[in-house]
Amino acid sequence: MIDRNRLRTLLDRERAAFADAHPRSAAAYAAARPHLLGGVPMTWMNLAAGGFPLYLDHARGARVTDLDGHEYVDFALGDTGAMAGHSPPATVEAIVRRAQEQGGITTMMPTEDAAWVGAELHRRFGLPQWSFTLTATDANRWAIRLARLVTGRPKILVNAWCYHGSVDESFAVPGQHGAVAREGNVGAPVDVALTTRVAEFNDVDGMAAELAHGDVAVVLMEPALTNIGIVLPEPGYLDAVRRLTREHGTLLIDDETHSFSAGPGGATLAWGLEPDIVTIGKAIAGGVPSGAFGVSAELADRIAAHEEADLVDTGGIGGTLAGNALSLSATRATLEHVLTDDAFEGMTARATRFAAGVREAIGELPWSVAQLGARVEYRFTSPPPGTGSESAAAGDHDLEDYLHVYLANRGVLITPFHNMALMSPVTTDADVDRHTETFSEALRELTA
Ligand SMILES: Cc1ncc(COP(=O)(O)O)c(C=O)c1O
Repeated sequence: MIDRNRLRTLLDRERAAFADAHPRSAAAYAAARPHLLGGVPMTWMNLAAGGFPLYLDHARGARVTDLDGHEYVDFALGDTGAMAGHSPPATVEAIVRRAQEQGGITTMMPTEDAAWVGAELHRRFGLPQWSFTLTATDANRWAIRLARLVTGRPKILVNAWCYHGSVDESFAVPGQHGAVAREGNVGAPVDVALTTRVAEFNDVDGMAAELAHGDVAVVLMEPALTNIGIVLPEPGYLDAVRRLTREHGTLLIDDETHSFSAGPGGATLAWGLEPDIVTIGKAIAGGVPSGAFGVSAELADRIAAHEEADLVDTGGIGGTLAGNALSLSATRATLEHVLTDDAFEGMTARATRFAAGVREAIGELPWSVAQLGARVEYRFTSPPPGTGSESAAAGDHDLEDYLHVYLANRGVLITPFHNMALMSPVTTDADVDRHTETFSEALRELTA
């Protein structure tokens, strides 16, 4: 249905327009190249549909403005790091209070904010005991170590095409004889088959077969895949995962870093899940680095029973700045005042409107749209993919780049990874409609 020549021509046209409109971003990028690895502060920033990254000048609420003075409606929201909106006032006030008025960004002392946040995360996710990290990646890493500690088992199980941050064990896809490294895996410490088993999302029998080996300490999964497009669980799948993990003495981590979009307590609360561990990061501190993992009372007891494990010093769990005063003041303010129960209602309503707009625009095209609370994603396949591998197979770089740069040239940003749009508490219906109109126009030109 898509004419590839036409797509290439339009993509070239849009990239040329992008270059014309962004001389200052282009110059800043060129100036940075001698000093930054890959020319960017973090190498993934080279994933830029327009050919080079837009440089940030300022951001507020659901808007960002680049160095060339163009303002965008931002549905990328820092790939969830800014789900609370950019610089939400309550979070900024807490940061200023902590850093400037009170003083003390990081010390070696706890603050009272930590217990408040722990209690609030308990209310939302149902797990009573919490510990803090700086990133979701670290929350996953440390949770995996604790799972290995208490089960005495070496491996973890992940879903094919999952993403849980730069967790060594998780870069695995199914091979002919077990897990193999995902393409592009950088400097793997050991063969991933030694650390990992893989099952497709929504494949109960596949997971049962892998768990039957009896060597899996923990299943690390998202309640819905979000990093290869959204892949929603089929009815009964998550119940089956919980039943199987219990039967096999395997622990279960729900990584809610992205599925937090499902509601104030993520998918765990929204769908009544009962994981042993929840991990989270990104959005909870309004953009300030902060992550957390929560454990069940039973697991907390099992951890405490391992008196020989060094949980205090150099045992492999912990970070100097983890649980710092600034992160926790920002987390408290964000949870108390910004990403509140009420806020999720509006965010989800905006996302529903967004999904309806995309559905109408794609019309007869064999594409699909999925929604996870405040998060929406479209894939170039229909019906919606049921596994990570099916979703991966539906990727289309040129098509994604065309849509991303077309939207950017007209003042709308979606995440540079796949086709994800996220609603903040201050995203409006008008913002959503602006995307719908621009997206519809991009498709009209493509299919004309
Ligand atoms: C589900 C999930 N978990 C963990 C992470 C890691 O987050 P961070 O890179 O902030 O450590 C990500 C990042 O995209 C993620 O999507």
